Amino acid sequence: MRIIINPNRSVGTINPNIYGHFAEHLGRCIYEGLWVGPDSPIPNENGLRSDVVSALKELHVPVLRWPGGCFADTYHWRDGVGPAESRKTIVNTNWGGVTEDNRFGTHEFMELCRQLGCEAYFSGNVGSGTVQEFSDWVEYCNMPGVSPMADLRRQNGREEPFNVKYWGIGNEAWGCGGNMRPEHYADLCRQYSTYLRDYSDHKIYKIASGANVADYEWTGKVAEIAGGTIDAVSLHYYTLPHDEWSRKGAATGFTREEYYAVLKKTLRMKELVTEHGRILRRADPEGRLGLVVDEWGTWYDVEPGTNPGFLYQQNTVRDALVAALNLNIFNDHCDTVVMANIAQTVNVLQAMVLTEGAKMLKTPTYHVFRMFREHQGAKQVETYAETKLISCGDWSVPNIQVSASEGADGSVLLTAVNLSDTDAAPLEVLMDGITEKSTVTGEILGGDAGAYNTFENPDAVKPAALGGLEVKGGGVKAVLPASSVAAIRIVRE
Ligand code: AHR
Repeated sequence: MRIIINPNRSVGTINPNIYGHFAEHLGRCIYEGLWVGPDSPIPNENGLRSDVVSALKELHVPVLRWPGGCFADTYHWRDGVGPAESRKTIVNTNWGGVTEDNRFGTHEFMELCRQLGCEAYFSGNVGSGTVQEFSDWVEYCNMPGVSPMADLRRQNGREEPFNVKYWGIGNEAWGCGGNMRPEHYADLCRQYSTYLRDYSDHKIYKIASGANVADYEWTGKVAEIAGGTIDAVSLHYYTLPHDEWSRKGAATGFTREEYYAVLKKTLRMKELVTEHGRILRRADPEGRLGLVVDEWGTWYDVEPGTNPGFLYQQNTVRDALVAALNLNIFNDHCDTVVMANIAQTVNVLQAMVLTEGAKMLKTPTYHVFRMFREHQGAKQVETYAETKLISCGDWSVPNIQVSASEGADGSVLLTAVNLSDTDAAPLEVLMDGITEKSTVTGEILGGDAGAYNTFENPDAVKPAALGGLEVKGGGVKAVLPASSVAAIRIVRE
């Protein structure tokens, strides 16, 4: 099977933010997963667990979205600042009805971003908040001089502004964020946007709450009515094995048909970003408005015996393939997709890491983000893959999917997915400039679609060196095992 890489054609630079993440006050994502508090026996720096932070740092996380999700439209930021002991206790009505003591708030989140070295993306409350409250949050975070909110920030221990760049104007306004119609939301978006100010020379980036899956009317109306007041529109698309929310399918022990259904549904992301992008261009022919896929990933039935409101699921090689397919699609549509945030970072949905008490494991999805990280900021380059169609039941998919980018040093990173759960894929990668002297190295993850890591065996699934690479003039030969993800770096001579 031939893969042709053409470094002379590109749709643009891969925005590092495509490799972004999302952490919500949901289940054990923030509490236990990221935040254990400064007095915890679990090693931590300023309350943030060191094992998780150090694992995430390896991914070069560019941006982190917070505090929701649905939680964002019930969140009142003032509840989460000031002395911890006097913070308000509320009920997390979206996720399990559990008590939320607001111990983790704006300052703790910004400390997490500092430790990770990433940008913050705040999702503001439009559904149940006010324009004044949201406007005050921006002033609190970004005003350098004297003002009521900047003074409050200083009183709470932070002299310098946080300079938060990314601000989401509500979340899922069509659903948990207010059940609004697109026209109503778009008008509200204009109003909120008016009062989200730039302070000093720090320009903020405003992201409108976007469509659910293929709701193109939503994107069209928001872009047409509010497009001039925002920088981007979001999109949410989750992959479920079955379309019934009450019976989505299990994360592990799935059937072959469920495996192929998940891959097929994941590939729909290509159609979604293309169509939403086309609609954005209709309202904005200059291409100023970006598409931010700020929630994506797999969503299964929760693990047996866990709180249904906590969305805790295992993560197999199938999920690694889902991550790789989506990231390859985002790379190849980097002229449209300016940011993407997988849901969610720890212990929720398609997580990077799972924790149990003091233990932590890296999921197969984590390893894909690590293997793909050099795509961040690189130049996307054109690829063509000779594929064949493979199927199971009603589900047909191409056996191979790829994307490639060229780094500043001229080396090329090819990331490839073998979707077949039975057949290895012999690949011949062709590109001008490959000679016998070229250095080609690779990593491979997978082999068994259903494999996953447990706290007893945390390294059952991890990347290995891709052996058997044959380099000759003009090409490289490699064999990808069934259900695998490869990252191949080519340094031409
Ligand atoms: O990620 C879980 C939830 O999915 C988010 O809170 C919401 O925005 C979406 O429906």
